[in-house]
Amino acid sequence: MRVFAISDLHVDHQANREWVQQLSESEYTNDVLIIAGDISDDWAHLENTLQILQNKFSKVFFVPGNHELWIRRGNYPHSIGKFEQILLLCQQLGIFTNPQKIGQGENDSGLWIIPLFSWYTLPEEGGNSLFITKPGNDRTMEIWNDFHCTQWPDLGQATLSEYFLGLNASCLEKKYEAPVISFSHFLPRQDLIFSTEKEREGAVLKDPHPYFNFSRVAGCRGLEQQIRKLGSTIHVYGHQHRNRDRMVDGVRYISCCLGYPRERARSTLKMPGFGEQPMMILSTIK
Ligand SMILES: [Fe+2]
Repeated sequence: MRVFAISDLHVDHQANREWVQQLSESEYTNDVLIIAGDISDDWAHLENTLQILQNKFSKVFFVPGNHELWIRRGNYPHSIGKFEQILLLCQQLGIFTNPQKIGQGENDSGLWIIPLFSWYTLPEEGGNSLFITKPGNDRTMEIWNDFHCTQWPDLGQATLSEYFLGLNASCLEKKYEAPVISFSHFLPRQDLIFSTEKEREGAVLKDPHPYFNFSRVAGCRGLEQQIRKLGSTIHVYGHQHRNRDRMVDGVRYISCCLGYPRERARSTLKMPGFGEQPMMILSTIK
């Protein structure tokens, strides 16, 4: 059994749907796939993709990303209502959105795969945000589709990131007697935004959109606290469409995104370690 990871499939693009379809029917039948969010906001695309991947892999794990919670298409009470419907869909399809122990055989102790729900903390919501000041004209949220395509119920005093992180509470209470691989859609650490240490030292964001500061919506520090509490050996995430494979203080952070066809054409998305098939082996379990 091997563990693979991918995120940001964005199958609204035909080339990405074809990528999903061309994956081997036979190569991964003993393997696990972690999908770290952003398949599509379209229900039919989401369901169809989950079903295809479920047929190709032995076990599939998924957390919704921000795109899944857009409600511009379909009839949903609000984005959390859609989130709950997606969890139900996953349950019906046999896709895991909760912790599972896998690969426990005679000669190994297995490992835990733990999905962590999350959202980003906006800079105006306090120090939990991954926000970095960016020189120039940052036009705030109006440029970001989430602002227009999501709707939220009254969460009282809680921010969205607090609400979603709160859903992970029961996972955090357990003791895990085998190695833990956790995953989220959003980024847990500010330093992961940067592709190099030099870039980070200068703290200059190289966003493709000069008027948009990605760090505003990148993730939240609370995720990192949960990862450390779990004692994860590997954490998989997505969202930024930048591939990473980096050790930080004993945790290996991996992002392996399919991304948009135009990003692949520009080679801004180089898939590390997996050649033609943009997926990554996380580990091998005997
Ligand atoms: Fe995303």
